[in-house]
Formats: sequence, C-alpha cells, structure tokens
Amino acid sequence: MSDALARALAPGIVPVVVAEAAEVAAPLAEALEAAGVATAEVTLRTSAAPEVIRRMVASSSLVVGAGTVRTAADVDAVVEAGAAYVVSPGLSRRVVERCREHGVPVLPGVATPTEAMAAAELGAHLVKFFPAEANGGVGALRALSAALPGSRFVPTGGITAASLRHYLEIPEVVACGGSWMVTPQLLDTGAFDVVRRLSLEAVAVARVARGTR
Ligand code: 3PG
Repeated sequence: MSDALARALAPGIVPVVVAEAAEVAAPLAEALEAAGVATAEVTLRTSAAPEVIRRMVASSSLVVGAGTVRTAADVDAVVEAGAAYVVSPGLSRRVVERCREHGVPVLPGVATPTEAMAAAELGAHLVKFFPAEANGGVGALRALSAALPGSRFVPTGGITAASLRHYLEIPEVVACGGSWMVTPQLLDTGAFDVVRRLSLEAVAVARVARGTR
C-alpha cells in the first residue's frame, strides 16, 4: 500500500461524499480533519466532483480520493483534479491499468470471490466490498475474507454508525466507507458541526473496534 493510502485509511473511516456544490469542499474538509478523519472519497456522481476534489486538496491536508470511477477517462479527470487514490464500484481492467499508468492506487469494487480473485490477478489486493449490506454484510465479508488470504477490504454501502463496529472487528478490514456522516442533506444545509460530530464518533468507534479484534 502506498504511504498516502496508508495515511488515508489509518483512522479506519472513509467518508463517501456526494457533493452538488463545490462550495462545501473547504468547510467539509475542515470538519473532517477536526474529527481526526484523514480522507474523503469524493464520488463522480455530480458534475461538481472534480472541483470539490481540487478544493479539498488545496484547503486541507486530507488524502483526497475519488469514487464512482468507471472509465479510463474518469481516472484521467480525477487524477488531474488531484485525487490521491481511486475507488470504483466494480472491477474494470481499463480503470486498474490507467490508475497504474498514473501511479495512483486503485480500490476496485468486488462483491464475490470470483471478482476478488480477478482483482488480485490484476494486482489489486485491497478492494472495496460493495455494496456491503446488500451483499450479506458482516457475515458475507467474514466468509469472503476467510477464503481469500492476502486480500484486504474496505466495505462500503449501507454501513451505519451502529454496524460500523462489526465490520471493523474483521481483521482483513482496513477501513469502512460510508456516507452517514456526510449525507447530502448535511452538506446542503451546511451542517458541518454535525458532520464533525458524526465523524468524530465514527473515528472513536474505529479505535475501540480495532483494539478488540
Ligand atoms: C458508495 O458509493 O460507496 C456508496 O454509495 C456509499 O454507501 P452509503 O451511501 O450506503 O454509505
């Protein structure tokens, strides 16, 4: 794992951001940093995403990643914006290879052993288990990781403040992703104090969960 990615994932929490307006970038970054989070996955689900990445990189020391990256052109756009790593909902050889050409770490999305094995064949041993809850949640991920020694996971999708702990207790889970601390509603209403509180709570849960596994 690259140093930047290791630093990003160290607190165990990856806030998944869907931002409609670039103006949220600076206050969002400030709230996340204050909470002890080291990263955000800014999803390419809005046209504002590249500018959000650019502004978060410029205004903070967060390791900013890009999510919902599905094509080689997406990779080019987010790397140009300053993304330090790339997350994809699925496994695309073209995305993995383009990330490698840029020298940027990539976490492909996988939901099955076959997909995780295909990712490993492409050199991606750290993957996003997605969508985590819909694919069987903690039980499924325990079974998956037991069968795939060497693979590491960032489960994302449907995880909540309540279920977070159970994922983080799995030794192969490097961090958990989710939007519960940065919901579009919180961003739209400028509730960055709430973002900060929910993020702080998530980081605290991660610390405890890792201590117990
Ligand atoms: C993602 O893109 O990773 C997911 O949409 C995040 O999942 P969540 O919104 O259910 O946390």
